[in-house]
Amino acid sequence: MPPPPRRITKPDGQPTRGKTGRNRLRQIDNLIALYDPGLIRREDGQYRGAFFVDLGYGWEPVTTLESANRLRRLNPTLCVLGVEIDPERVAAAAPSADERTCFRLGGFNLPLSDGEHARLVRAFNVLRQYDESAVEAALKTMGGYLLPGGLLIEGTSDPSGRVWVANLLRRSASGELLAEALVFGTNFRAGFEPGQFQPVLPKKYIHRMIPGQSIYQFVSAWKRAYYESIPTSVWGPRYLFATCARRLAETGYQVDLSRRLLGRGFLIWRHPEG
Ligand SMILES: C[S@@+](CC[C@H](N)C(=O)[O-])C[C@H]1O[C@@H](n2cnc3c(N)ncnc32)[C@H](O)[C@@H]1O
Repeated sequence: MPPPPRRITKPDGQPTRGKTGRNRLRQIDNLIALYDPGLIRREDGQYRGAFFVDLGYGWEPVTTLESANRLRRLNPTLCVLGVEIDPERVAAAAPSADERTCFRLGGFNLPLSDGEHARLVRAFNVLRQYDESAVEAALKTMGGYLLPGGLLIEGTSDPSGRVWVANLLRRSASGELLAEALVFGTNFRAGFEPGQFQPVLPKKYIHRMIPGQSIYQFVSAWKRAYYESIPTSVWGPRYLFATCARRLAETGYQVDLSRRLLGRGFLIWRHPEG
């Protein structure tokens, strides 16, 4: 049965540059598959048919289609929705739609019909082009469409997707949107040094790199850990990355020390606001 018609509401946001690229968000897909595979697999209750949403996919829908392929290894029936605020980009993506993949015109207020839900919303390289004052409202709006337990991943990467940082926010059972983690990702192609992540901090953090702010203190602690750990770099950047993570944990930061995450280049700092 087709879904009920969507109410047409003005998309919330503004069209921005559409630059994207093949495999740019591959690491984000890999993170999702390692961090919360259950969220992708779920098909119980309201989760049945709930979307993975790629908001702001750019001038061609490569990231949406690639994510659909990768995440369907976990859930072959996963429904995927690409959302764009630029009508030409929606039209350009239309020929790539299929039974479980669709593209719709929309904004932070997602174009969902009654009875449609989102399990995960990813907005990558979107908010960096907005004014900082718009960020909290945009996160709140997108998060409002998530099912309880659903995840909002908002972040920034370099043009190739080799280095990136993402905010992870989770919708609680009571409907609150809670900051869960800040994730720093690298594929080590350019080695590893904590300063690499500074240019790709999400909008929410980039202007807070000043003494007294938690993000500044975290990056400073990471840099100290790096300089203390440099002798271990003889074993390669992955080893150095993991050593720095252990040092951060020793200084009291809640960072995930599991080897499968660190080995893939994911440093997960839990409760960055706390
Ligand atoms: C730089 S591209 C990012 C493409 C892709 N996500 C990536 O990371 O490669 C940003 C895209 O977000 C779209 N966009 C900006 N604000 C939006 C909004 N509020 N809702 C939907 N799309 C939006 C722009 O039209 C643009 O095509």
